[in-house]
Amino acid sequence: MSANFTLNGRDIIVVGGAGYIGSHVCKMIASTGGNPITFDNLSSGHAHAVKWGPFIKVDVRDRSALDIAFTDWEHVQTVVHLASSIEVGIGEKQPAEFYENNVTGALNLLNAMRKTKADQLIFSSTCAIYGETENMPLVESEPKNPFSTYGKTKLAIEHMIQSFQNAYGLNYVTLRYFNASGADAEGEIGEEHDPETHLIPIAIQSAMGSGRKMKIFGTDYDTPDGTCIRDYIHVTDIARAHIDAIRAFDQGLKTAEVNIGTGQGVSNLEILETIKRVTKLPLPYEPAPRRAGDLTRLYADAREAKSILRFEPCHSDLENIIRTAWQFHRSKKI
Ligand SMILES: NC(=O)c1ccc[n+]([C@@H]2O[C@H](COP(=O)([O-])OP(=O)(O)OC[C@H]3O[C@@H](n4cnc5c(N)ncnc54)[C@H](O)[C@@H]3O)[C@@H](O)[C@H]2O)c1
Repeated sequence: MSANFTLNGRDIIVVGGAGYIGSHVCKMIASTGGNPITFDNLSSGHAHAVKWGPFIKVDVRDRSALDIAFTDWEHVQTVVHLASSIEVGIGEKQPAEFYENNVTGALNLLNAMRKTKADQLIFSSTCAIYGETENMPLVESEPKNPFSTYGKTKLAIEHMIQSFQNAYGLNYVTLRYFNASGADAEGEIGEEHDPETHLIPIAIQSAMGSGRKMKIFGTDYDTPDGTCIRDYIHVTDIARAHIDAIRAFDQGLKTAEVNIGTGQGVSNLEILETIKRVTKLPLPYEPAPRRAGDLTRLYADAREAKSILRFEPCHSDLENIIRTAWQFHRSKKI
């Protein structure tokens, strides 16, 4: 991370910029002196989250609309691709829609980029591409056997990007995020998925009296408190990783695939205890059976991102994650 790096008014296309992570990426681009241009169809994102640059409503599945959207931005060199279907459960029931949105959408984007000056791609991948393993922390070279359709679509896109690199010289940084969490420190944006499937917002909403019963899936894992362990990384740190990737491109980086996590595991019960402490609200939960495909432990080996991108998380202590998420959810209720 370099505090002195500036984007000097550079235009950067952020596909999926109206979403949770995308809006934080846009804010980080703007605060680093750049101009984020959001391409989004608002299927799960929000127009009110686009606050830092132009908004172009476009669906990546529509190849000709995407080509037209690029015509005003043919000079742009760097594209961030976050647009995706992300709900793992829906992917199992509707794989056709999932592959179309994620894989066809990414193919359309790569083809649109080939017609312009865009030769740098930052792609939002996921730890879900690794599949079943007990080798923690997870290194990037670990075999890729995704359990879910979601993970399979992301791995297919990673392969596609590598082929475009080999054949057409596309430069890319693939960021395999672990669990994105927290919210903007100024409370301007935060996590607003509908339906929400992520533990922290569900638990905070439950503590705030959403009426949704809090379930913990599996309390008999081989961990100190019996619940699953995950790697929670603050969304502001994730956003910063994109700036670090752009700086690395500028310094000559051609390709990289790196984990974006903290390297630390936190259990589900530790999350609930921290939420109770920060919000000072009761948070009853109900033990539920394990879910198929849930690993006992999942946390990153974060050394590659540090050595290749000079990326180091600095907002991801659990208290800060919960405090910022809580501040965002509370402000929405007022
Ligand atoms: N949230 C996490 O913990 C996490 C973890 C690993 C990877 N990721 C990846 O990060 C990215 C962003 O995740 P998020 O949590 O911000 O999700 P999100 O749903 O909030 O954001 C996705 C954005 O993409 C847009 N979009 C979806 N399909 C589109 C299409 N066909 N055309 C144009 N825009 C479209 C949505 O409207 C939304 O604004 C995704 O690619 C996801 O797979 C997220």
